[in-house]
Amino acid sequence: MKRLKLFFTGAAVMLICATLGAQPKPWVIPANFKTMKNPVAVGDASSKAGQLLYTKNCMSCHGKTGLGDGVKARSLKDFPGDFSKADFQKQSDGDLFYETKTGRGEMPKYEGKLTDDDIWNIVNYMRTLKK
Ligand code: HEC
Repeated sequence: MKRLKLFFTGAAVMLICATLGAQPKPWVIPANFKTMKNPVAVGDASSKAGQLLYTKNCMSCHGKTGLGDGVKARSLKDFPGDFSKADFQKQSDGDLFYETKTGRGEMPKYEGKLTDDDIWNIVNYMRTLKK
């Protein structure tokens, strides 16, 4: 009887964890980043530069068109997100800049690897992935 109870408790805990795990955790963006103005003008030159950097640094996980279906995505625990979705695109430029710069968990930190201008170019490119 005791073992049965233990079994059900275990199953319930596992179910709760699976449900929570499926929900993307919201990012906590510091206020100074949230409202940060994108200093790089939107346009072909910027999104072209961003695309090159994206292909080299981000595509393996995020996929060619940002759907979260890169070749490495299968081996990740967390879904990298879908850049074509309104939920993603409704974030501010500063939010995307912060997420890319600081990373979290399996999302690498690009601070020190890419310049701020590089990251802004990638932000401008990520905007073109909207469906
Ligand atoms: C090794 C795989 C990997 C690489 C490479 C990678 N990412 Fe990510 N990225 C992730 C994962 C996994 C998440 C989800 C992390 C989380 O929610 O904790 C994520 C999340 C993000 C988010 C937030 C998504 C959202 O829904 O708000 C942005 C923005 C982002 N990545 C941009 C980039 C950019 C730009 C690059 C390249 C410069 C990059 N990533 C490279 C794995 C990767």
